[in-house]
Amino acid sequence: MRIAMVGAGYVGLVSGACFAEFGVEVRVVDTDAARIAALREGRIPIYEPGLDRLVADNLRDRRLSFTTDLAAAVRGADAVFLAVGTPSRRGDGHADLSYVFAAAEQVARAAEDPLVLVTKSTVPVGTGRRVQELVRRVRPDLDIAVASNPEFLREGSAIGDFMRPDRVVIGTDSERAREVLRRLYRPLYLIETPIVATSIETAELIKYAANAFLAMKITFINEMADLCEAAGADVHDVARGIGLDGRIGRKFLHPGPGYGGSCFPKDTLALARTAQSLGAPARLVETTIAVNEARKARMAERVIAACGGSVAGLAIAVLGLTFKPETDDMRDAPSLAVVPRLVEAGARLRAFDPAGMENARALLPAAGIEYAAGALEAAQGADALVLLTEWNEFRALSPDRLRAAMRGDVVLDLRNVWDPAAMREAGFRYHSIGRP
Ligand code: UDX
Repeated sequence: MRIAMVGAGYVGLVSGACFAEFGVEVRVVDTDAARIAALREGRIPIYEPGLDRLVADNLRDRRLSFTTDLAAAVRGADAVFLAVGTPSRRGDGHADLSYVFAAAEQVARAAEDPLVLVTKSTVPVGTGRRVQELVRRVRPDLDIAVASNPEFLREGSAIGDFMRPDRVVIGTDSERAREVLRRLYRPLYLIETPIVATSIETAELIKYAANAFLAMKITFINEMADLCEAAGADVHDVARGIGLDGRIGRKFLHPGPGYGGSCFPKDTLALARTAQSLGAPARLVETTIAVNEARKARMAERVIAACGGSVAGLAIAVLGLTFKPETDDMRDAPSLAVVPRLVEAGARLRAFDPAGMENARALLPAAGIEYAAGALEAAQGADALVLLTEWNEFRALSPDRLRAAMRGDVVLDLRNVWDPAAMREAGFRYHSIGRP
């Protein structure tokens, strides 16, 4: 089998490399010539564990190739995947579909033989149908079947998620498209991965519903954490106590500073907008968005309160900047709400993140913040310390060494990575989320 993957971003690269690993011949296309040139040499523009190895192996075995020539990539392909970006449109929060439609049109124009056009990008319900109309209009002479095949990859564990998914969703009304996609995913039959075959509209909605539900689940436990703090209860025991009910499930009940990342904020907003415009408003989703935004903004106030009401002139260490560990991704990270507010309140920050500092520099204010080479260096002489991302190396820090490095004794652990008793024993005034 042979496929083209349009878009060498996160989804396109991971999916392309994984399909190649399945034995498919994959051509990844992008308009960014510098990116393609780097990829040809095996240099990966994103941080994703295991991806460099997978790309290098499949480049060497010639199952994977990179090009800027879309027409060449489409030639002879059984299927073409669209994995281009769908950012939030400025102003109204709707997903910006211009890249999807432009790519679909280019593919249709370049096609020489019947093919299956598969949307992997996250697109609002109704988009696949519009893509179908577009390709029919551009190429009435050619049988281009359209399908929706959403991805459910988590950054940091994307390869494992692709290779061992909970399910594969295939949305199409074309028998041929379904067959081609089933063949592409054949290696997953061995591990009995369920295939959910639906219409295009349903597949598109499954993706948004999944992300909105997960965002809601996190937001729910965050609210319970606040309640636990007020009531003197422990949110981890609440999470375990409810999560053992199979109807609820234990995952995604870890409290924190609010969810971020490239998907949840953007997709919940797009779903809320779609629901509004279809006259079926999704009030729970709308509330989730508002509660999460307010939470991220409130985290800085928590820090200020823990420092006695003012951080003016204080040195504050910040551990972790990315929206979660094992990624360099800063998109909608809680740090983007917390750090500027603390700087504005007069604090001097020294931050460390194992992978995100380069991206952080571009997004955070230049004044009032410096970057350290390690966690202990960031903590050196600090009056207070805030942990924003639960990188494993922070879990391993010794409370005593941390205490010895710092001048002050205030720690805000916004991911609950440390043991409260051990932190208190080391002499800290330790604050975490939803624990007495
Ligand atoms: C998510 C979905 O998991 C994935 O299926 C979808 O395709 C894309 O969006 P990702 O954004 O990579 O993946 O990260 P994820 O691990 O889901 O975390 C999202 C955010 O939620 C992070 O900010 C994380 O810190 C937060 N989170 C997650 C919590 O605060 N608590 C939890 O229990 C889980």
